[in-house]
Amino acid sequence: MLNIIIFGAPGSGKGTQSQKLIDKYHLMHISTGDILRSEIENRTELGKHAAKFMNRGKLVPDEMVIDILHELFIHKPAKVGYILDGFPRTLEQGKALDSMLSKRNTKINVVLSLEVDNKHLTERLIKRGEVSGRNDDTPETIKSRLQVYYNQTAPLKEYYAQQGNLSNINGLGTIEDIFSRIEKVVDKHNY
Ligand code: AP5
Ligand code: MG
Repeated sequence: MLNIIIFGAPGSGKGTQSQKLIDKYHLMHISTGDILRSEIENRTELGKHAAKFMNRGKLVPDEMVIDILHELFIHKPAKVGYILDGFPRTLEQGKALDSMLSKRNTKINVVLSLEVDNKHLTERLIKRGEVSGRNDDTPETIKSRLQVYYNQTAPLKEYYAQQGNLSNINGLGTIEDIFSRIEKVVDKHNY
């Protein structure tokens, strides 16, 4: 199994680079953000609850996303491996993930952290907001998402650095440039 976490601030390119990883390595994509947005679109109870947090740029409660992952691992076992996009986002989620994977005799192999400065992140998200229809791509919510990332999510990097899995990737440049940096790291684990 090849299990990859794609890590990084809002707008760092997690979704964009996930797509390229899926095409090349045939991994199963799990984006908790996409799952939550589809719950909102389908007006489920879970979606209604999640929207209260997402529209303010806050994290939804840990148990909510951990439950989603738990269900997915049971009902959608991956053949080659998973690419986790936007999960984990707190230390509690990271620990829950390790324990769910170890019960399946597998583990995280690589954590790719896309490094992009605030100026570029904000520019990308404002630009996307003009066309995306994403409720959280507004200047005020973008600010809050970035703050939440630095306060609650970025500290997780230390957890993965201690496990020896963390690779910092320069997330600036063309999508192709960034993907070739990613390939070099992934190919070392994928022989
Ligand atoms: P989520 O959906 O995960 O959003 P996010 O982390 O805010 O990140 P984005 O999806 O906005 O950006 P991205 O890194 O995927 O970049 P992208 O490739 O799109 O989470 C949304 C919300 O859901 C959270 O705020 C939270 O409320 C909730 N949530 C989700 N998971 C959770 C969890 N585990 N726990 C608790 N709450 C959770 O690129 C961005 C833009 O830049 C695009 O327009 C793209 O075209 C462009 N772009 C990409 N690459 C480049 C490049 N190289 N150069 C120029 N532009 C580029
Ligand atoms: Mg995304």
